Amino acid sequence: MSKALDGVRILDFTHVQSGPTCTQLLAWFGADVVKVERAGAGDITREQLRDIPDVDSLYFTMLNHNKRSVTIDTKNPEGKQVLEALIQKCDVLVENFAPGALDRMGFTWERIQELNPRMIVASVKGFGPGPYEDCKVYENVAQCAGGAASTTGFDDGPPVVTGAQIGDSGTGLHLALGIVTALYQRTHTGRGQRVLAAMQDGVLNLCRVKLRDQQRLERTGVMKEYPQYPNGEFGEAVPRAGNASGGGQPGWILKCKGWETDPNAYIYFITQAPVWAKICNVIGKEEWATDPDYATPAARLPHLKDIFAEIERWTMTKTKFEAMQILNKYDIPCGPILSMKEIAEEPSLRKTGTIVEVDHPTRGKYLTVGNPIKLSDSPTEVTRSPLLGEHTDEVMAELGYSPEQISALRTAGAI
Ligand code: COA
Repeated sequence: MSKALDGVRILDFTHVQSGPTCTQLLAWFGADVVKVERAGAGDITREQLRDIPDVDSLYFTMLNHNKRSVTIDTKNPEGKQVLEALIQKCDVLVENFAPGALDRMGFTWERIQELNPRMIVASVKGFGPGPYEDCKVYENVAQCAGGAASTTGFDDGPPVVTGAQIGDSGTGLHLALGIVTALYQRTHTGRGQRVLAAMQDGVLNLCRVKLRDQQRLERTGVMKEYPQYPNGEFGEAVPRAGNASGGGQPGWILKCKGWETDPNAYIYFITQAPVWAKICNVIGKEEWATDPDYATPAARLPHLKDIFAEIERWTMTKTKFEAMQILNKYDIPCGPILSMKEIAEEPSLRKTGTIVEVDHPTRGKYLTVGNPIKLSDSPTEVTRSPLLGEHTDEVMAELGYSPEQISALRTAGAI
């Protein structure tokens, strides 16, 4: 079966997490992704957080599926020529080097345009133009600068970063959308263009509702669905909301049976207004359905803490899965707090290809997250990440280099 991005060639000049997330998605959609790595070393993540000596780390393998790897010293004049040949052949160059690194290598936008006017040059940077544009940035820096950390955690504690890699993987996703959009525009204009996804912008985009709340706070001085209401005080900026839902339907994380020993025996419970009467029935507080202090969403807001405490008395008598089963019968929105172990073992995620087992020549079998985006006409088949430079000869031959030229370039240290 054909793939959505069949025929699209990507020069993947990415490393670590943000860029590789983007190019892995494009590879899953069918693009031919050629990862250019530093000769002898490769993407630094190959050796980071290793669990098996001298074997590509899970950090690397889980972000670089379905790609080919070539090693080129792009600071060597002959290596530069190889990169130029690749630029001429590819549709998209994706990079996430520190600001200015590509220019320092001699590959400015102007130079790339000269080599290939159809080339789309896509970059992840920490920040867009402004005071921090020259800074190097990693995940948690972006979470902090993009508004996620100041709005995550509990009011009486410090800012907290989240386990979801919204700075790196989140920005990789944004970049992938920019790339396919630019490819589409190129079908009309014939021209390439630059695509920039700044990590601060990507995180902020995911924190959109908090900028909404900032303006609500400035207008009214209070936000009734926040745990700070009615007892706490609001300051000038959006406070940390603990586990509050962030939407118009109040929610909280509640203990379930076994919480004393199992750190994940919890459920997320949403007191959605249309099912309020059912919630009252399930927890045995039928009178709340008609009590004017509890019957309407507005009346409930000052009592949310007590309401959740009462619901928790009920959830603590059930495991999170038992509670799910009962609540789902009544269409009460809720979700178990699943551990990574539970997710890894979940059969339905294996069935859909969201969790995939992959075989690797030096590592053996391991689990990875497959393509979370399912296209009915472009199915994803996850294949292992490449070994360092595994495809150098193959790609060089495709660029027109003879075996003798390849061997000379290797001797010169260019590849
Ligand atoms: N051959 C020769 N040199 C190469 C090369 C190759 N194949 N590939 C990369 N290099 C060089 C670059 O030209 C650069 O050299 P320079 O500093 O002399 O210009 C150098 O390797 C390292 O690049 P850099 O990006 O600075 O790596 P770093 O490890 O110091 O920094 C980051 C890592 C992630 C902090 C930085 O790349 C960054 O801020 N990127 C943008 C934001 C981002 O994506 N962050 C999230 C990462 S998950």
